[in-house]
Amino acid sequence: MIVGGLIAVKSKKGINAIEASLESLKRMEFRGRDSSGLAFLIQGKIEVIKDAVPVDILSKSYDLSSFKSDVVLGHTRYSTHGKADKVNAHPHIDCRGSVAVVGDGALINYEDLLTKLLSENHLVRSKCDFEVVPHLIEFLTVSEGSSLLKATLDAFKFLRGVFSLAALLSDGHIVAYTSKQPLYVGEGNEFTSIASTKSGLYGIAEVYTTLEDGEVLLLTPGGDMKFVDSEGRTVFKVFKPLDLSPSLVSTDGYPHHMLREVYEIPYAILRTYSAVQRKYLELVGRVLAQSDNVYVVANGTSLHAGMIFAYYLSELAGKVPIVISAAEFPYYYVDKVKVGDAVIAVSQSGETRDVLKSAYEARLHGATVVGLTNNINSRLTRFSNIYLPIGAGPEISVPATKTFTSTVVLLYMVALATALASKTLSSEALDKVFEDLSNLSSTLLSVIDKLNAVAKEKAKLIAGKRSGYVVSRGLTYPLALEAALKIKEASYIHAEGVQGGELRHGPISILDKDMFTIFIEPLEEDAARDIHKLASEVLDYGASTLLIRSEGLVDVKEVNLEVIEVPKSSNKHLTVIPLSLAAQLLSYWIANYVGSPIDKPRRLFKVVSN
Ligand code: F6R
Repeated sequence: MIVGGLIAVKSKKGINAIEASLESLKRMEFRGRDSSGLAFLIQGKIEVIKDAVPVDILSKSYDLSSFKSDVVLGHTRYSTHGKADKVNAHPHIDCRGSVAVVGDGALINYEDLLTKLLSENHLVRSKCDFEVVPHLIEFLTVSEGSSLLKATLDAFKFLRGVFSLAALLSDGHIVAYTSKQPLYVGEGNEFTSIASTKSGLYGIAEVYTTLEDGEVLLLTPGGDMKFVDSEGRTVFKVFKPLDLSPSLVSTDGYPHHMLREVYEIPYAILRTYSAVQRKYLELVGRVLAQSDNVYVVANGTSLHAGMIFAYYLSELAGKVPIVISAAEFPYYYVDKVKVGDAVIAVSQSGETRDVLKSAYEARLHGATVVGLTNNINSRLTRFSNIYLPIGAGPEISVPATKTFTSTVVLLYMVALATALASKTLSSEALDKVFEDLSNLSSTLLSVIDKLNAVAKEKAKLIAGKRSGYVVSRGLTYPLALEAALKIKEASYIHAEGVQGGELRHGPISILDKDMFTIFIEPLEEDAARDIHKLASEVLDYGASTLLIRSEGLVDVKEVNLEVIEVPKSSNKHLTVIPLSLAAQLLSYWIANYVGSPIDKPRRLFKVVSN
């Protein structure tokens, strides 16, 4: 499985589409660049050229400028399912070479499809989930006696997950399909194009439209375009100008990667679910259920996600893990670790020095190490006995946003799997998470612009302040720590996460008009009441005060506060996602007003390797 970028380019006047395709792919490399590849048609034969290298190197190494084709598929990859190598790179083809497929996202039912196709003697070469698609199409042509085109359209009905794909058929058709995420279709003078992002269409399309959930685009060999919905009914699409400013192409139209990445959260939480293979998740659940002690080691934002996991695990599986900074673990805890213990090492990059040291030493002491990482080509996967992908796709901005929420989703799934193995929950609970996440994703997509506008407005209250507290309790307390970290690193304004009950034990004494307090309303009614009481008290000390809360979650009478309200999830445990998204938007806008270099704060690096 991948989170990457796909393109399909068909030239209108018979001119070569290879160069345009390569340029288009390069503009999408912010979605991943560990492998790349092209498939193109030359005299009815599909050629595939791919490797575990970025687009530029692929182009040079395989002398791609010497090829000519007017219909091309292309891909740039970020692996989360099958490491970065030539075989796992896209495009993938069937046994006979009659269909090539590029995909972006994840197929949830990959394992079931693979088992079926292997039993039918298909030669599935890679560990990438999208390879099942061309083989499925091939299987349907044989088993149903269908044309390639009909088999391709039929194959889509068997696919579940959050993904987009494009198929090139040897008869010259291009067929694109998307599930639960957008795919963009562009029209220009010379080319019709399909791309995962608008930036992929830049330079080759003047107008574009969006392929929505369940829709199919059919591009005939003659260049006719037809859009159909999941029932096969024709859909009429409105094309609009591709208004992407040249200076914002590299951030796909957003002013910073941080904002772009926050906007990806509604999709990223679904990808995380889809990226995790159930058999490995259940294995991790069994390991944790049987462990004497469970340790969680991580740094920074990943540590905060680990702290949320402690609430999940104790509530769902009745087990209380020890959550500890990876900078402390090797010095103060590892000596107590023994055979029969489990250590969950969480690292977005999979390369943080302290996390690697912790994982390495924990294994020497006989513990089972479970690695959770957004980079499956990292050393953490090699240092772990089992690993699970976070699956959020590459994160470029140094302040971590979408990887935090995706890590929380993954840890929630781990807690559920542990509860399943401990028999405190049934397997339906795990199945239902996808439904809950899908509902949450749709809700977030419908409110994110409004939430962003509110966060932009409220950030003005904080941007001029010297320092402040982010206060909460319980499951949302780690969110307060995380929000404070985000404010510090993005805007250089000092912020501290405080437990509600601790505010009166010292921190309250320095509040004044040059400070701010942000309260994140807890998810439990008693705790929420307490936070409201505290907030009204703090108002008297002159600090700017803001409340981030979930609408209608708890019934408490409002004090006269500035409020950012987010939609709640029907699943209480997932309500941390919208709360977190609001806090991230707020931090982003505070930093924007301050004028700090948001994506690259001074002295900070995406990977802390020393
Ligand atoms: C904060 C941030 C850092 C990282 C920390 C751990 O936005 O990005 O605090 O969370 O350096 O990094 P990983 O998760 O890569 O081990």
